Amino acid sequence: MLAIGSDHGGYELRQIIMKHLAERGIEYRDFGTFSAESCDYPDYGEAVGRAVASGECERGIVVCGTGIGISIAANKVRGIRCALCGDCYSAEMARAHNNANMLALGARVLGEGLALKIVDTFLDTGFEGGRHARRVAKIMAIEGRD
Ligand code: RB5
Repeated sequence: MLAIGSDHGGYELRQIIMKHLAERGIEYRDFGTFSAESCDYPDYGEAVGRAVASGECERGIVVCGTGIGISIAANKVRGIRCALCGDCYSAEMARAHNNANMLALGARVLGEGLALKIVDTFLDTGFEGGRHARRVAKIMAIEGRD
């Protein structure tokens, strides 16, 4: 199960991503926003982040205008590793090396075709583990030193 959310800036791209997920037979839970009216991206970054951190959803995708604000918000949730990606190589490495559990996209930055390729890359790439597991564990240990 995937969690997905966006602010108004990511509303349209989120609809396109949800259609794509449905076509791929991937189940998702939609955290809104539910109209194109102006709203605040931290609310959606946090909601999707909490769904992933709690284990209710395995991974999350969030979208705002640039992807920056919503990724920063999601990364404030304990347990979240949210990667803002603008290319497929970064999406692949975010999974293979960083074991990212969330993907952030910038709707005002990316074309629809590239955005969907990035989504597919993120969903279809596994974590390599090994030396990367040690590094990811070091990232997560930072949370314990707060
Ligand atoms: C909303 O106008 C915009 O600031 C937001 O979607 C996002 O780009 C923030 O980082």
